[in-house]
Amino acid sequence: MIRRLTLTRPDDWHLHLRDGAMLRAVLPESARHFARAIVMPNLVPPVVTSADAAAYRDRILAAMPPGADFTPLMTLYLTEETDPADVVDAHASGLVTAVKLYPAGATTNSASGVRDFDRVRAVLEAMAQAGVPLCVHGEVTDPAVDIFDREAVFIDTVLDPIRRAIPGLRVIMEHVTTADAVAYVRSVDAGLAATITTHHLVINRNHILAGGIRPHYYCLPVAKRETHRLALRAAATSGDARFFLGTDSAPHTDDAKESACGCAGCFTATNTLPILAHVFEDEAALDRLEGFVSRHGAGYYGLPVNAGRIAMVRGETPLELPARLATGAGSVTLFDPGFPLFWRVEDAPPSEVS
Ligand code: DOR
Ligand code: ZN
Repeated sequence: MIRRLTLTRPDDWHLHLRDGAMLRAVLPESARHFARAIVMPNLVPPVVTSADAAAYRDRILAAMPPGADFTPLMTLYLTEETDPADVVDAHASGLVTAVKLYPAGATTNSASGVRDFDRVRAVLEAMAQAGVPLCVHGEVTDPAVDIFDREAVFIDTVLDPIRRAIPGLRVIMEHVTTADAVAYVRSVDAGLAATITTHHLVINRNHILAGGIRPHYYCLPVAKRETHRLALRAAATSGDARFFLGTDSAPHTDDAKESACGCAGCFTATNTLPILAHVFEDEAALDRLEGFVSRHGAGYYGLPVNAGRIAMVRGETPLELPARLATGAGSVTLFDPGFPLFWRVEDAPPSEVS
């Protein structure tokens, strides 16, 4: 049995850091092990312009724990008013790494998202020209479409037409939840990749609904049936470089989750690496963990792989983690994978790890 692994320092290609007291509490949870993260722009109000992104980056850097070595990779929230020149300049200057497309109304704070895709065509063309990646929340919002079908319908009716119309666009289909999305990504040779979350590798829709409603497993896109979870596990552990980690760690306070209309999001920043090591070990794919968490994403984004390393060790006794993170905004429940975790990240400065 493998008991120790060393990995290139990982990156999180989809993360919600929020703002204010919540940002101060959750940032250390990601900065502890991850070198970089693509930071989602769905604040209230959203991060729409390069000036917004610069101000948000400053707030993140000001909240950084002492000694942390963590780079937030900023994104802009695409609206029908987004100025193509602002996007291209922000990317060229290094301020912004990608642009995020939320269909209006698809998820938390997405009211300013896109309703009419023709109205963002000029921006998408400018992005394709300048090599700015587009991160996509891939769900239609049509109330007539069943929530469990919204990802598959989005691929056929929105994503594929956009990609055909603008072939040079580099797209990341985020937090994929279906075998349909996995198959779509596999069917394309270039210009398309997908992130997979930690929680979608662990839960299916029964975890949310069977034996009582469990709000801490509710996220968007919502977890699907077991066949889809198995397709995600196969993709994540396959070694295919088109699939990489984006945790979508999305903290909401317990009050907001445990409510008659609870918010979507699973908070996984704290225990993501132990859970992933468990999943990859289960799939006899520990040798592919590094690709998924540390290499494939950097490759797709055209960024260097991190220089530092971390070590993970498999202990004899389960990892003890608190159930909740205290924040100045209220407590946030950690994602519970439902099984004990034996892998942990060794607390050693990266330079001491070979
Ligand atoms: O579950 C989710 N939570 N999915 C999203 O797309 C947004 C996120 C959030 O911001 O809370
Ligand atoms: Zn998200």
